[in-house]
Formats: sequence, structure tokens, C-alpha cells
Amino acid sequence: MMKQIRASVPAKAILFGEHFVVYGKRALATAINRRLMVVVSNRAGRGYHVKIDNIPTFGLQMVLGHEHRMAYPYKDFDNASKSIAYVRKAIEYLETEYGIGGQGVEIEISSEIPLAAGLGSSAATCVATIAALKHYFSLDSDLEGIREDAHSVEKAVQGNASPVDTAISTYGGYVQIERAKVRRLQLPELDLIIGTIGCIPLSMGINKSSEFSLKTKKIVEEVKVRKESFETVFKYIFDAADELTAHALRAMERGDFAMLGALMNINHGLLDAIGVVPRRLSELVKQSQELGALGAKVTGAGGLDNMGGVGSVLVLPGEAGDRIKVAMEVAGALVKGAKTGEAGLKIERIG
Ligand code: PMV
Repeated sequence: MMKQIRASVPAKAILFGEHFVVYGKRALATAINRRLMVVVSNRAGRGYHVKIDNIPTFGLQMVLGHEHRMAYPYKDFDNASKSIAYVRKAIEYLETEYGIGGQGVEIEISSEIPLAAGLGSSAATCVATIAALKHYFSLDSDLEGIREDAHSVEKAVQGNASPVDTAISTYGGYVQIERAKVRRLQLPELDLIIGTIGCIPLSMGINKSSEFSLKTKKIVEEVKVRKESFETVFKYIFDAADELTAHALRAMERGDFAMLGALMNINHGLLDAIGVVPRRLSELVKQSQELGALGAKVTGAGGLDNMGGVGSVLVLPGEAGDRIKVAMEVAGALVKGAKTGEAGLKIERIG
């Protein structure tokens, strides 16, 4: 008999405090209305067949099992193999921790979340894969357990990861992070624009493109080195960022969007000061500000000029949304409207 479970989770956007949160400062993040979906069903034979379909920038199929055989890779294989690494680790983790396995399983992933763009595609993959498999194998699937399992898998693949992304993918809504503790918040919905520089330049060789899978790690390490070189100055920048998040929370609670935008602009300035704003993302922010946005900033890890400036910016557009979207598209960005506070993990049996 066919058994089919579908899990879907949202993307995340960090509104305030990325990078500074790595050093215990406060950050505010939200789920946004772009989702990643994992469908788990039974198949003949043994082992896992993973099909990744329709993720912006690539598609591929792979058979995981004794032979680890790959089929039909195309386009951006290095980023694809990064996603596969999260799926493979999730399977290994559930086998070890809960003893799943022993039957043929099909795992199909599709997503609206661009990769390596600061929007939480890795955590979304972990949460949705863990949730769908736990449900499929009739394991306890309470949300906190799924979040913890997914965070363990994310850390096992990428070394270190703050709890921000897996918390947002699991719970949705808004979360505040302070000293690695996650607090869920009720805040008003915002209409944002997200501009992503997502194209890997064709001139970029295979070695270069494989670096993308470690982009966040590399940028976080560069910030650490700079912080150590300018210890006393960076202390003030980091304290300012912490204070900024506190102000932003109060502005959101009051519905003061002009203030919120002004604080986003300052946050962007602080991110520039610590060296995570490449030229292409800087231009998207400046252009949005000039065209009348209430606020604009880089979101997530940011980017590096020598990695093509790949990353995303968040814009609180006020009345200027249409012209900002056009200008960002002309500048080569993938541009989407985004609503904050999107619902978290949804699991359903579809067959
Ligand atoms: O770009 P992303 O989605 O990997 O976000 C990174 C956010 C950082 O604050 C830079 C790192 C972290 O673990 O919080």
C-alpha cells in the first residue's frame, strides 16, 4: 500500500543582528512566505532514492544506499551535492538515533528558496527531511524534538550553526535570539521586498563554485579575524548592533515602520563596517534607499566580492515598492515580495 507524507517549511530572513548574534548579541528573525517541501513515500527494494527538483539553480536525482550512485546531475552540481549532504546526514542521524530503515524510501524535495542566498535553505532542508521521515516511520514528531534533531544535523554538516534558521523553519513566525536562546514572538506582519544576487557567474570554475557551499562559514571566519584585529572598535560596533535589535523590537511593537526602516539602514551600515557587504548588494541597498524605501539592508551572512557578491538584501519599501522592484531587476537581482510571520512546519499524510 502507498504511504506518502508531505512536510513543508518556510524560508527565514534575519531582520536585525546577523553576525553579531554569533557573539551572543540579540537578533530578530522571521519566517517568510517561500517554502521548501519534502515528500517521503515507499518504493520497491531497499535504500533511499532522493530526487531534488525545482530548487532555484539546480535539479538532480541520486540513489543513496550501498552504492551511492548518482543519476541525471545537471546544472549546479556542487550546490546540489551540498543539499544532498544535509539529506544524507539526516538519514544517517535517524538511523543511528531511532533505528529507522530496512525498507525502500523515496524522498522528493522541491523548493522556492534560493541556495546560498541567506534565506535558510539548508536548515529548511534539514527540518523538512527530519519531520517527513520521523512521521513516515511513526516516530514521535513533536516540534521541539524535530527542531533539536534538525539543528544537530545542520551542525554535523556545516560545523557550527546558530539555532536561528532551524527554529524559524520549525516554528515559523518571529524569533528573537539572545545568547543562543530562542524566544518566539508575536509581532505585526511586514511586506518586504527581497532582492537576491543568485547567479553563479559562468566564468567561475568548478573549484570556485564549490566554495559556495561554505560561504556562510567563510564569511563568519573573516569577521572573526577582523574582530580580533580591531578588538576595541568592534566592541562598540557589536554593542550598537545589540542595542539596535532592542530598538527594532520596540518599533515593531508600536507599528512605527518609519523608525524600523531607519534602524534597518543603520544595521546595514554596521554590516558594511564589519566587511560583509559586497558591491552588488551594496548597490541594491543604496538604490532602494534613493528610491524612497523606508529601510534596506543585507540579510544573512552577506557576501564577498570575490564570490560574485551572491547574497540577499531586505527592503521595507514604504510607498516605493514598484520602482524599487524594477530597479533591482535591472541590476540583475532575482526580486520577490515577501510577507513576514509565515507559518512553520506543516506535516500531512497525502497517500
Ligand atoms: O546566510 P545564512 O542564511 O547562512 O545566515 C547566516 C547568519 C549568521 O548570523 C551570519 C550566522 C549564524 O549562524 O547566525
